[in-house]
Amino acid sequence: MRLFFAIWPPRETALALERWARPLAGRFTQAGKIHLTLAFLGEADAARASGAARRVQEAAFDLPLEEARYWRHNQIVWAGPRETPAALSRLAGGLQIELYRESFILERRPFAAHVTLLRKAAEQPLPPLPRVHWPVREFALVRSAGGAYETLERFALG
Ligand code: 2AM
Repeated sequence: MRLFFAIWPPRETALALERWARPLAGRFTQAGKIHLTLAFLGEADAARASGAARRVQEAAFDLPLEEARYWRHNQIVWAGPRETPAALSRLAGGLQIELYRESFILERRPFAAHVTLLRKAAEQPLPPLPRVHWPVREFALVRSAGGAYETLERFALG
């Protein structure tokens, strides 16, 4: 199964982000699918991934979403913090260390905190993002199959 670890926004935050993206040129991400990926595993064993995640002991934090930007290389429009919060770096880094301990082979590209809001997007003027609240109190192991996401397990942050 194709697995990844991610954090999910509260429903009203996801709805506000979908509303922002909907009128723009591209394929907007539906509210229920809006997330921020911490680590992408690809085809992997869920039990081993879960074992690694259970050893992660990191603090809860609030994620600011301040900037919308366009990546030309993969034609996505995404939202993210202006600077990655230290707590988010620790969470992604801590998870990566535990995944390495479980012998997962991860992509070597550095962690880029981004929430994809449009795919196949044109380069276009981006309006200011809505003010949203995204408290991060847990992260999740998610299965991706046939374009749908299924949360397999949640892991609490302290
Ligand atoms: P993206 O939003 O930038 O496409 C599920 O596919 C999640 O895993 C998405 O958030 C996706 O990021 C992320 N991801 C990271 N690396 C990936 C890869 N090599 N293939 C597919 N998705 C990847």
